[in-house]
Amino acid sequence: MIYLDNAATSYPKPRAVIEETARCMREYGGNPGRGSHPLALRAAEKIYECREEIAHLFASPFPENVSFAMNATMALNTVIKGVLKRGDHVLISDMEHNAVLRPIYRLAREKRIRYTVFPTFARFPERTDEDILNAIRERIRPSTRLLVASHASNICSATLPIEKIGALCREHGIFFCVDAAQSAGHLPIDVVRMQIDALCFPSHKGLLGPQGAGGIVWGDGVISQALIEGGSGYDSFNPEMPNDPPERYEAGTLPTPIIAGLCEGIRTLQTQGIARMHEHVCSLNKRLSAHLCALPFVTVHAKHHVGEVLLFSATGVPSDTIGQKLSSLGFCVRTGYHCAPLAHTSLGTPEGGAVRVSPSFCTEEEEIDEFANALEDALEKLKK
Ligand code: ALA
Repeated sequence: MIYLDNAATSYPKPRAVIEETARCMREYGGNPGRGSHPLALRAAEKIYECREEIAHLFASPFPENVSFAMNATMALNTVIKGVLKRGDHVLISDMEHNAVLRPIYRLAREKRIRYTVFPTFARFPERTDEDILNAIRERIRPSTRLLVASHASNICSATLPIEKIGALCREHGIFFCVDAAQSAGHLPIDVVRMQIDALCFPSHKGLLGPQGAGGIVWGDGVISQALIEGGSGYDSFNPEMPNDPPERYEAGTLPTPIIAGLCEGIRTLQTQGIARMHEHVCSLNKRLSAHLCALPFVTVHAKHHVGEVLLFSATGVPSDTIGQKLSSLGFCVRTGYHCAPLAHTSLGTPEGGAVRVSPSFCTEEEEIDEFANALEDALEKLKK
């Protein structure tokens, strides 16, 4: 089997991740922050160790500002629903995932907020950062309270000029939330320099951790409403959640084994070198892109953005049919709309969506060539 679906979840996980997850359950499986016995204390220490790794990775000076969630979707819901108040206006990019769109659509449907989509021009190679910034400027209103931007698209690798958008948001007093689901572990992120108020990330993609955790790196001094309330391990007579992160956003027991594994995932990244891994994956996709662009019936979407992921469609063959054929040949890819309907509309992909290929730092050139040849053969047959 050749796994080319790392944008959905990275696989295989590093051995250290698997071993630490199991070791946690075996050796220090207490409830973090819920007792003073050694097993609870060791669990709490491991959680703090992971907060430190995450803070260091994203250049935050404050490990306490890292709060855990179940996944990036829950992290984004926490920020969106916690920051927005009735009457607020929010700006979102046309590359957002349903993890951003659906909470915003619901708040708007209930007439609690208004939203405006700004274009990122991802299908136009000539677009500049200034075009995007101008598109945002034109849409800012006095009531604009929040801007949510996907750092890297999950379907075409287009990235947004996060540092410049951060500066613009700061200038206008707009809360800046970045969805780093596809960039965490792939691209350098500095929450201070980029002036990010809330960075949302998953464990199981670029950070190489297990599924079951995600989190938020909050800007210093930021306080938002909690998404859920419950036990925080201290101040039990207080009817409200604690005021400060991380506990304010972490009601209930944390998934310690997952977080222990995530900690090792980040260490693996640091050892391998994020830039080196990113280069490798991009070069594989560029190689594949060159092959696919030579086929007259194949379209590589936003090919000037090919990076961690490559998106293609074939004239007259639905993406699901291609995916099923590839699966029967031993290749794992994702097809359809990838929970990003707006992004597909912006890129102009055909009815039924497109096929996404996302290799990893473990994928080899020969595997990409094997994939390209198998795909070409399969498409010839499917077209008949
Ligand atoms: N958001 C993930 C993807 O893009 C699951 O496939």
